[in-house]
Amino acid sequence: MNILTFRTDDELNKAGAGIITGMLQTNPRSILGLATGGTPVGIYRELVETHRQGLVSFAKATTFNLDEYVGLERTHPASYFAFMQEHLFGSVDVDPAACHIPDGTAADLKAECARYDSLLEQVGQIDMQLLGLGHNGHIGFNEPDHSLVRSTHAVELREQTREANARFFNKPEEVPTHAITMGVGTILKAKMILLVVRGQDKADIVARALQGPITTECPASLLQTHPHVVVLLDSEAGSRLK
Ligand code: F6R
Repeated sequence: MNILTFRTDDELNKAGAGIITGMLQTNPRSILGLATGGTPVGIYRELVETHRQGLVSFAKATTFNLDEYVGLERTHPASYFAFMQEHLFGSVDVDPAACHIPDGTAADLKAECARYDSLLEQVGQIDMQLLGLGHNGHIGFNEPDHSLVRSTHAVELREQTREANARFFNKPEEVPTHAITMGVGTILKAKMILLVVRGQDKADIVARALQGPITTECPASLLQTHPHVVVLLDSEAGSRLK
């Protein structure tokens, strides 16, 4: 695991965008696993700027998002579909048909999860999976539990997760109770994982995830078993590491 700590947000964003840009420059057909939430916004902003400068193209890339809320229309401003349009897809040359996000409005969620898994199986392996980290150690929406699920599935969100995400909604009660998420098996199958974490409020969970015991009670701790993980932290998030 390669852990890099940055003094400023700007440096962290440039490093994250640089890794993704380098991937696309080396292999324009890269399969990218993408995340939403507050953490990747600055990296996406850098990528959009790099694209504007003509230094990176997404035209041949394929993307798979980690998750989507159950029950939110794509047009809802807090849907992850809308998030990706706003922060990345709407401002780069990616082919919309090659951008995959689970459909949280599907009438049959099991069938939707199976559809998503079969798309993932068709591409084989994600080249780079971008991840944020939940305060409870979740990755994607794989919440801490006695056991974890390998493939795409619907989950009930923990109260802590709903509270953390309430900032994206008008009222806390509007935060959906369920989401569809890629499973931990799919995440760990990626060739390379780029975990990004910011802020003092994540310092404890960063230390648990990266240096604590490997346990399903902290899903991100399973990343310790992956052969190629790059972690980008700001100094606050990295402040409890030994
Ligand atoms: C988002 C996702 C989540 C977030 C995590 C951190 O697609 O899968 O695991 O990465 O909840 O969220 P932020 O970045 O908002 O702190």
